[in-house]
Amino acid sequence: MNVLQNQSLKSYNTFGLEAYAKFFVAVSTVDELKKVLQQPELKDLPRFILGGGSNILLTKNFDGLVIKNSIKGIEQLQEDDKHVWLKVGSGEVWHELVLHTINQGWGGMENLSLIPGQVGAAPMQNIGAYGVELEASFESLEAVDMQTAEVRSFNKDECNFGYRESVFKTSLKGQYCIVSVTFKLNKKPALNISYGDIKRTLDDMQVWEPTVKDVSAAVIKIRQSKLPDPKVLGNSGSFFKNPEIPKEQFEALQQYFPLIPSYPTPSGLVKVPAGWLIEQAGWKGKRIGNTGSHAQQALVLVNYGGATGQEIYQLALDIQASVKEKFGITIVPEVNMV
Ligand code: EPU
Repeated sequence: MNVLQNQSLKSYNTFGLEAYAKFFVAVSTVDELKKVLQQPELKDLPRFILGGGSNILLTKNFDGLVIKNSIKGIEQLQEDDKHVWLKVGSGEVWHELVLHTINQGWGGMENLSLIPGQVGAAPMQNIGAYGVELEASFESLEAVDMQTAEVRSFNKDECNFGYRESVFKTSLKGQYCIVSVTFKLNKKPALNISYGDIKRTLDDMQVWEPTVKDVSAAVIKIRQSKLPDPKVLGNSGSFFKNPEIPKEQFEALQQYFPLIPSYPTPSGLVKVPAGWLIEQAGWKGKRIGNTGSHAQQALVLVNYGGATGQEIYQLALDIQASVKEKFGITIVPEVNMV
């Protein structure tokens, strides 16, 4: 076990923010992780698990132990004539897994192409894009209890998935490290191209009978046109969640803002795109120092280079306050603050 001290986290977060971890260790197997958790001199430190670093905002140095998850492996557990079950190490890169499944012609993940981050973060916040959420292809996961170092498995119900939510972000927050995820993929995929942009992009590509590969290619095209590449411009995707508000509140807002977009939700609340609210509040494409709201997608906050986590955090607070003032809606960050 190679525990490093005062390790820079700059290359480990997609915002490209400078912050130091007092202690840092990478683990590539479940046994290594258990050893780290049981190490007496590390046991009492504050700890956090680092995956792809694509959904965190580092606002200060971390005075504890960062555990970098590098647990790899893709194993086919079983198959029948309709489905295949894959058990995947949580440190695998999400998009590489998606490409692997697409190359086999298996369906379920194509709409989730090019989402940054690692496999372990996917159930953590039930990643979703273009009309599909992770939970649709999720079967179960294994996680290590950070206190006892014991492995426990969770089925779909136990994960309590919601919109960008799971039990690991709420009641069990910080208590488990996800080490593997098992997916159930379709050998005879039913494609979901209901999302307007996908249909339009497939038409532009002159694809009339799409395969999973085509849908993935369309999603990649859309994402590349709207979302900045973190390798070029530091960001962590959508910074805020899309708020869900009561129907009455939505109808009252509609009187003043007739063009306000909305999506119904199963709970009866109305989901409003935070990107629209932020744009209407005047933030889209606005640059403040080295930070800003992206010109193609207002919901994405960016680091133009050299910004600090505190500056991004301040920008987020200012955006939040002005959306609250204009619309009476509180938008809540999707990224995790460290
Ligand atoms: N909109 C604007 N201005 C903007 C951005 C959006 O007016 O600057 C409005 C438009 O009306 C647009 C609507 O918002 O039709 C929705 O925009 P978009 O399709 O870009 O999706 P989103 O709701 O802003 C969500 C996810 C994204 C995901 C896309 C596509 C959240 C918080 N974000 O964004 O996820 O890729 O849908 O499915 O739910 C992420 O989580 O990091 C992420 C990028």
